[in-house]
Amino acid sequence: MLEVVKYSYINKKACSYKMGYMTDHNAIAKYCKNVGRKTMCGIVGMCIAGDTKNRQRQTLGEMLTSALKSLEYRGYDSVGLAILQDYGFSSKIIIRKARGKVDEVSKRLQFYALTGQVGIGHTRWATHGPPNDVNAHPHTDCKDKIAVVHNGIIKNFYELKEALSKEGHVFKSDTDTEVIAHLIEDYLIRGKKMSFYQAFRNAISRLEGSYAIAMISTYEPGKIFFAKNESPLIIGLGKSGNYIASDIPALLPYTKTVIPLKDGDLGWISPSDIHIYNIREHRGRDWKSLVIKVEWKPEMAKKGGYPHYMIKEIHEQPIAVKSTYEGLLSDNRLVLAAEFLSSANKIFVTAAGTSYHAGLILKHFIESIVKEPVYSFISSEYRLPLNLVEENDVIIAISQSGETIDTIKATREFKKKGAKLLSITNVLGSALDRESDLTLPMRAGPEIGVAATKTFLTQVMTGELLAINMARSAGILSDMEADALIKDLSRAPNMISQSIVQTEKWSKRTSEYLRTKPSAYFLARGLGVPLAMEAALKVKEISYIHAEAYPAGESKHGPIAVVEEGFPVFFLVTLDSVEEIQGNIAEMKARGARTFVLTTVNSDKLSISDQILVLPEGTSLIEPFVLTPPFQLLSYYTAVSLGYDPDKPRNLAKTVTVE
Ligand code: M6R
Repeated sequence: MLEVVKYSYINKKACSYKMGYMTDHNAIAKYCKNVGRKTMCGIVGMCIAGDTKNRQRQTLGEMLTSALKSLEYRGYDSVGLAILQDYGFSSKIIIRKARGKVDEVSKRLQFYALTGQVGIGHTRWATHGPPNDVNAHPHTDCKDKIAVVHNGIIKNFYELKEALSKEGHVFKSDTDTEVIAHLIEDYLIRGKKMSFYQAFRNAISRLEGSYAIAMISTYEPGKIFFAKNESPLIIGLGKSGNYIASDIPALLPYTKTVIPLKDGDLGWISPSDIHIYNIREHRGRDWKSLVIKVEWKPEMAKKGGYPHYMIKEIHEQPIAVKSTYEGLLSDNRLVLAAEFLSSANKIFVTAAGTSYHAGLILKHFIESIVKEPVYSFISSEYRLPLNLVEENDVIIAISQSGETIDTIKATREFKKKGAKLLSITNVLGSALDRESDLTLPMRAGPEIGVAATKTFLTQVMTGELLAINMARSAGILSDMEADALIKDLSRAPNMISQSIVQTEKWSKRTSEYLRTKPSAYFLARGLGVPLAMEAALKVKEISYIHAEAYPAGESKHGPIAVVEEGFPVFFLVTLDSVEEIQGNIAEMKARGARTFVLTTVNSDKLSISDQILVLPEGTSLIEPFVLTPPFQLLSYYTAVSLGYDPDKPRNLAKTVTVE
């Protein structure tokens, strides 16, 4: 049987080999340490009954290509397909793959000409080995009888690769993925009468790390084999076949009936059957009980006439926030969540990126309305707060995707110490949802742009409704008072619309100024601080201009040193900050900064600023809905005017599934 040799120095060698373009040893060491920090690949697989060309007027190649296009938002550098052709003795796998974008590669390599009934496709975001044609997925065994696509990181790949190489396996790529195909092949060579499925299961049980895998083979030509651990994967059940994909939008043209897989699941799909086994639980799973219906329409995942998903999604915010509001008031989850929190000993809130900013707003309102302390932390920094957690504490996790590994990991550690998990997520069936004691669904619809926009404001709405209900449940607000605040929140969708209309021109004009600057500050006090943090994140992630947010009072303790003539400083002035912030505006102006005030408060005290834009008046609960859109628009127009694609910012991906 295959022997695994473990040499720590080999890993270094492997990295220098794989990263042939990296000669600096520190860089190699850093790469070795961080390899696979993020992995964003997209996977799709289709197992169709009958010849697709005749029935659907689309070849399997075309169907896989369009599914891959709907996964482009995940970020990628290469694309490829594998399709089984001919069944029986002469069956073979056709592979076409290259570095580049789906449109260009699929045209050049004529993906549309590939017919068949069983195929897999992949968009790769390089982790092991540079982005090139050879490293693009799918990858095969020595005899090209097994083709595999994979999202994730196989941590023990180098040991496996060394051992397989000694057994005579010849590797073509630098990827960790290729070991999977050779490992199955090896089991088939050595196992006496071992079935293909058994070889597949044995191989998967040898893998360490994160993976979503789809695989086809000439040994079992009518099936797609799959396995999942930490990276997302769903099965789709269609009328003319079954499907597999990393995310729902890839399958929406074919089905809305899906099975979200959980960690440890592996198995196969055929056009008419599904088999799921969980290697952690050592038992098969009855797939019929796992099926869920998705409400999303295919057109909801397309651009709807807008040039980019990001601007479409900014404009969708009123409707998204409305459906969050109405959805949460239509069942009893909110009341249950409020009771859940009221009986909690301590409350923690955790999230990453934009969702973390929504978490800070939730903290603000629980602390200001309910007057309960909330311990908030960025999910990757869970270790210190973990020391504080006790039985009967509740951790609230916020994640639009429900798959962010930092957030999942933090919640798992908290749960191990006895905390209960309340989650706010846009994806029901996601890992976070499945592991939660209670979930509040955001109902934002699919968000394709990498920059979170509509999911942010739906998270804010969820948090605010939660805080009000907590205050009611704790007896701090009477029913009448709570109902009045909830009624006031019904104005939010309309206030977002007004804010977009009122600031669209301003943001276009201001983007012309901002685009010429290397850096900008976003300052605020109180409730405005998380809004300023979100504004700065949007600007830096989309337009690549350095942007920092600070509490305005803190800016004089260091950050002000950077300010010089014409340095852009944006002030987000909320109702709770107008008195104190005027001094901070004056300080910046005195150093030559160009100041922009965006506020819901019509006050002479702010007139010292170079520019002031007074937005629709509102209460504190309404302010996030008014002050957020202008900065989403500003970042969008700045990126577009600099020639960047706001939907696919460099180095980023929508779902970050590896630490
Ligand atoms: O899916 P999540 O909400 O857990 O994602 C968290 C962050 O990765 C995400 O908000 C990220 O910061 C976005 N690019 C922000 O626009």
